[in-house]
Amino acid sequence: MIENSSVHKLQIIKPDDWHLHLRSGETLKAVLPSTIKWANRAIIMPNLDPPIVNIDDVKNYFQEIKRNIPSGVNFDPLMTLYLTETTKIKDILEGYKSGIVKAIKYYPSGATTNSAKGVKNIKNVYKVFDVLSKIGMPLLIHGEVTSENIDIFDREKVFIEQILDPLRNKFPDLKIVFEHITTTDAIDYILNSEKNLAATITPHHLIINRNSMLVGGIKPDFYCLPLAKREKHRLALVKIATSGSEKFFLGTDSAPHLEQNKISECGCAGIFNALNAIPCLAQVFDNENLLNNLEKFVSLNGPKFYDLPVNKSKINIVKYNKSQNFLKFINTSEGRIRVFNPNLKIYWNYT
Ligand code: NCD
Ligand code: ZN
Repeated sequence: MIENSSVHKLQIIKPDDWHLHLRSGETLKAVLPSTIKWANRAIIMPNLDPPIVNIDDVKNYFQEIKRNIPSGVNFDPLMTLYLTETTKIKDILEGYKSGIVKAIKYYPSGATTNSAKGVKNIKNVYKVFDVLSKIGMPLLIHGEVTSENIDIFDREKVFIEQILDPLRNKFPDLKIVFEHITTTDAIDYILNSEKNLAATITPHHLIINRNSMLVGGIKPDFYCLPLAKREKHRLALVKIATSGSEKFFLGTDSAPHLEQNKISECGCAGIFNALNAIPCLAQVFDNENLLNNLEKFVSLNGPKFYDLPVNKSKINIVKYNKSQNFLKFINTSEGRIRVFNPNLKIYWNYT
């Protein structure tokens, strides 16, 4: 990291995004430029409709993404397979050997957008966990239970007790990424774990709490899953993300939905933040006086956990005297996608 305080310029190793929704078709075309501007690689979520459940789906989706990357731009989509109770081991092994599939995504059935085909009974995927443990491929977990009797704000905490802890005891060699964590419970659990467990944290969970979404009128733009929690949880997330701890790294969970699907009687969960993710994060780290740990969170800790090389190229970001305005929408031929508005003064931007 090279810091040039006179012009407030920061050069860091080019980041990666370890949790990204790119969708397909027109949305993919519209959102991809926001990510390839700053990320060298991204773990691509498979919850399309229909989801990416086998090796042919992965190959086709990989090709679709590649076709949309302008020539001369370096961006590696790291593909994932959507785990179902009928996932074939041969698909995992083929994906692993070909180098295209970097992880398997576990959605509890019904937990979030397009998760209906996810896992209902975890025992039915034990054979997959055996194989992942052997080949060292990470399992990426949406860590929320879905039982109707569990309050939605408690779903992450209960998931740790009911599912994650027993799972880790049964499969100690399984590498797990606990995705988009939102609670002190998750932070404490990860800090107390010895090995094979890390977590992604989103920019928005570092900036908004549940009041941001619910006080003074409901703000569908801040509706995402897992829900933002109480302020004490947000403060703990800021503390751990900015600490430099190797077990925590950036996964934007940038999740575009068309405006008409978000601002609706039954609005979709997901925040599109890829466009201003790095400026938002730089501001969060700057506000803590911990900009020196930004590079660890966005560029170093992720590859270390995934056993991948650190990127060679760099990006520059600059702190301006005036707070920055970002685009409010991006357009697709099917409608607009609203960009995350952090309601926080952001002085950082790309050069
Ligand atoms: C994501 C989406 O829209 O695909 N939504 C969200 O609120 N984060 C799915 C997910 O990661 O839960
Ligand atoms: Zn997601």
